[in-house]
Amino acid sequence: MIAPKHIGLIMDGNGRWAQQRGLSRSAGHKAGFEHIPPVLEICHDLGIQIVSAYAWSTENWNRPKAEVGYIMSSLEKHLPEFVSKLHQRGVRFMHSGRRDELTPEALQALDEAATLTQQNGPEIFNFVFNYGGRAELVNVTRKLLAEKVESEVVSESTINHYLWTNGLPDVDLVIRTSGEQRLSNFLLWQSAYACIYVTQAYWPDVSRDDVEAAVKYYNRVMAKI
Ligand code: FPP
Repeated sequence: MIAPKHIGLIMDGNGRWAQQRGLSRSAGHKAGFEHIPPVLEICHDLGIQIVSAYAWSTENWNRPKAEVGYIMSSLEKHLPEFVSKLHQRGVRFMHSGRRDELTPEALQALDEAATLTQQNGPEIFNFVFNYGGRAELVNVTRKLLAEKVESEVVSESTINHYLWTNGLPDVDLVIRTSGEQRLSNFLLWQSAYACIYVTQAYWPDVSRDDVEAAVKYYNRVMAKI
């Protein structure tokens, strides 16, 4: 089996997972956050080097205040411990997303995580947080204009350079959980040629079998191209 080099995870279904158990949506997000490391282990075992995980979109701010507050304070409180475990395993951490709406504490946690792990690799965990594919392209355009880049020199590689994912290769496989067949503004440019696999499992329930099935599906698709 060939391992996809870069996979994208649309981690959907924390709310429904919690509801099934009579828990709050925040408890679902807690379980979802805690489920990222085991899934990264599975990806490591399967030879996947880069994982981009969609944890918060630019559209998610209109969710209930308590939910937004829970996610933001969890990020500030728990990211350092989460990243120290990645660091022990030699994984580089990066953030893709808009910085504007984030608190100074959240930005500090994200920046410290990137600095701590900057020499690590080749495995990369890309935390896609406060991200939207359209917002990213608006940001690229603004930067090109601000830097007065000549229109004739703009190519696909110029755009890649200005993306929040700068340096990462294209996404090979997107896995979306909880049965929804939508992209939801996730890494639109980077996933232009990606294969998409949807599992019915809610994110906190995603198993090794689910990830393996996605990789097998990727191999079947690639064999036909
Ligand atoms: C969508 O499912 C999921 C999200 C909006 C958040 C995903 C985030 C994580 C898995 C990690 C949480 C991160 C931190 C920093 C605590 P949903 O919860 O909307 O589920 P639903 O569609 O079943 O309601």
